[in-house]
Amino acid sequence: MKSVIKEKVMVNNLKEIFSIFTAKAVVRNTFASCVNITPTSNNETKYLSINTTKKYLLYIHVPFCDNLCPFCTFHKYKHNFEDSNRYFKTLREEIKILKRKDVKIDSVYIGGGTPLINEKELRITIKLVKKLFNVDDISCETDPNHIDVDKVYRLKGLVKRLSIGVQSFNDEILQQLSRYKRFGSSNEIKQKISKIVGILPITNIDLIFNIPNQTEQILRDDIKSAKQLGVEQITTYPLMSSDLNASFLKSKQINRNEQKFYNIIKEQLEDYSKNNMWSFSKKVVDLSDEYVSTHEEYIGVGSGAFSYLDGKLFINAFDLKEYENRIITKEDALMAKSEFENINKIEYAVLSSLFGGKLDIEKFNKLYDVNLEKLLRKELYLVKKLDVIRIEEGVIYPTKFGEYLLVIMMASFYSGMDKVRAMFRK
Ligand SMILES: C[S@@+](CC[C@H](N)C(=O)[O-])C[C@H]1O[C@@H](n2cnc3c(N)ncnc32)[C@H](O)[C@@H]1O
Ligand code: SF4
Repeated sequence: MKSVIKEKVMVNNLKEIFSIFTAKAVVRNTFASCVNITPTSNNETKYLSINTTKKYLLYIHVPFCDNLCPFCTFHKYKHNFEDSNRYFKTLREEIKILKRKDVKIDSVYIGGGTPLINEKELRITIKLVKKLFNVDDISCETDPNHIDVDKVYRLKGLVKRLSIGVQSFNDEILQQLSRYKRFGSSNEIKQKISKIVGILPITNIDLIFNIPNQTEQILRDDIKSAKQLGVEQITTYPLMSSDLNASFLKSKQINRNEQKFYNIIKEQLEDYSKNNMWSFSKKVVDLSDEYVSTHEEYIGVGSGAFSYLDGKLFINAFDLKEYENRIITKEDALMAKSEFENINKIEYAVLSSLFGGKLDIEKFNKLYDVNLEKLLRKELYLVKKLDVIRIEEGVIYPTKFGEYLLVIMMASFYSGMDKVRAMFRK
């Protein structure tokens, strides 16, 4: 009997190892084969790929930070007000161009960098967006240095969801991430957050798991602290690696507990509802960090912003001067694009739907004009056999193990995006 159980455990372990290896390889290879970035010609524009009867998510990129954290791979520059004042003006020009093109927006995500770094310009920009697009669902990122009570009050009616990057409440981890000196100790950050919870409809805390030297206990304490602060949302990213943060990771021992840590997070946040595989809410809400899982297409404005429209990935100029120059001279900061094959579009849509928690086959087929079960027959058979998904009444759900696989697949997808950023970063 004992040996039968042992054998079963071994088979399950092998299944999991095979699935993890395959999932990572699939995303890596699909990304390598389908993302074929080509520079765009001078008269090319992304506006022709916009459908004016559809509603899009607008992503606004603010690439400035006071602290350039070594683990972070996002596109950003060291902040000074001269550059950011100028940049916000160009951003507003780009937003006005969208209105002139009759674009419809139903949700906005302002990310960075650190958007709240230039509060005055940020507020002018949000007011413009609200006036032009009559939109209410607005998310904005910040670091812990820009969340004093007065500032957050001034965002009332402008921002619905404020997302604060904390990463960890452990002082040693904060030091390791080079955030302790700039953003303060865990206790100082907790104090600041406790004063602003409840001012806006949703306050979110970002945490990172699987950081080198992070133990199970540290992770449990991080989640406990976030819950005790009473924030409406907690987002937990696995530490993502790419060439852009290789020097940070080089001297560190890689933490091999990702799967175990993810299971701890789910267990600790069992009383929360899942927005997607790595974001949890006290109540069911529809605003979360992963706009790719809630919006099948989105328009990005700002330097280095991506747009995904009609199966094409469009990339704005990264360099600030070039970005400004392109907006002024040709009303489009586009500098490169990548066109996906139909099958890759579908695979991407499957990944992002499942990352959001489920995929309704009939709705999906209608939306993409496909027969998913025919098109991905072999793949669906395999992932069912490997206990990655289950299908109930025409809806595909990830299993407990499938949820973890989706986390690593999405993380690999973001690492792939970093490759694109690395190509253009000077
Ligand atoms: C673009 S940052 C903006 C947050 C804000 N600037 C701050 O640092 O507090 C958004 C979030 O991305 C996450 N992030 C950045 N680099 C990451 C990495 N290498 N792996 C996982 N998550 C990362 C962090 O949790 C961070 O809060
Ligand atoms: S984590 Fe935040 S503050 Fe640090 S570099 Fe990234 S965007 Fe800037």
